[in-house]
Amino acid sequence: MNGHPDLSAATAVAPAAGRAAVIAGVGSWVPPRIVTNEELTRYLDTSDEWIRSRTGIARRHVVDPGVGTAALAIEAGAAALKSAGGGDVDSVIVATATPERLCPATAPQVAAGLGLSGVAAHDVAAVCSGFVYALNSAAGQIATGTADRVLVIGADAFSTIVDPMDRQTAVIFADGAGAVVLRAGSASEPGALGPCVLGSDGELAELIMIPGGGSAQRSTGQLPGPDDLWFHMRGRDVYRYAVEHTSNAALAALDRAGWRPADVDCFIPHQANARICTAVGERIGIPADRVASNIERVGNTAAASIPLLIAESAATGAFDPGARILIAAFGGGLAWGATTFTWPGTLGFGD
Ligand code: COA
Repeated sequence: MNGHPDLSAATAVAPAAGRAAVIAGVGSWVPPRIVTNEELTRYLDTSDEWIRSRTGIARRHVVDPGVGTAALAIEAGAAALKSAGGGDVDSVIVATATPERLCPATAPQVAAGLGLSGVAAHDVAAVCSGFVYALNSAAGQIATGTADRVLVIGADAFSTIVDPMDRQTAVIFADGAGAVVLRAGSASEPGALGPCVLGSDGELAELIMIPGGGSAQRSTGQLPGPDDLWFHMRGRDVYRYAVEHTSNAALAALDRAGWRPADVDCFIPHQANARICTAVGERIGIPADRVASNIERVGNTAAASIPLLIAESAATGAFDPGARILIAAFGGGLAWGATTFTWPGTLGFGD
């Protein structure tokens, strides 16, 4: 191959004619323990002012010892199923970069924890873009008739893979889970998912990486050392690519949906960093008051970030029925994705 591949055109996948995926329920969960910026300054060379001004984060939720991603995913999944009016699903997809183990996938464990043993269950590994990739997989299962209802969960316990002494990552990443139930329906009804735009650039894999523990290292006969298993990030480079790819994916998804930026009632970007979200909103021409954000309270929860914000916004009545919503994500891989949907407006919340 000559030179660098042309990444200007991301892959755009139109929904198959016939059965569309329609949102039937949403839910979320964050672990109860809150870590403030001030708490981080007790052992890290950082400050509340630095963290707030560079990332927009004031506090985050983290798991207690012994709690992994499955527990978060089960809580969010149960909330989404309840908001969908209960009932079974045919498939559970968990997007995560912090699986319970390298092998097997976490989704079967989550399905079993929800009383859904026997259904199809698999993980999606696309780091912070995992939820958008998982939505697309679920829509494919519905379009082909493999499933009528799919539970899609984004869940991460990033506090378990971030080196607590790495001040570049420890201040940003956090734990949580969000979920949606998708059902078979028609593309013209409220709640229908639009076309997904997905892309990747593996030549930049080293910008966001856990270097060891996988087959690349183990095939050499080496076992991982302690630093090999921490999450590593080249923050400044990531920042630049995040703005570029999130914006381009968002614009491509709008184009595929036949919407203009002015048509969007709510833009939900992956909560990577408040400055990235603001820059993307400006670049694609969506006013700041239509860009949703919860990063100040929850930090960057990776694959959980978008569904967590969807569920939180829905629970506060932020979306009118038929509201036009755009979501866009970017993260390790590199991988990115965006899609659109309208708001169904008939979901249940609370007890
Ligand atoms: N507290 C205080 N100082 C810190 C710090 C922290 N937590 N982290 C880094 N610094 C220091 C650096 O050491 C550096 O000091 P120096 O100038 O004396 O060398 C200075 O702050 C600037 O570092 P830099 O890395 O250039 O900062 P930045 O403005 O790029 O901000 C990030 C760092 C990580 C916040 C920023 O690059 C970022 O948000 N990147 C994207 C990360 C992201 O969104 N990842 C998720 C993708 S899904």
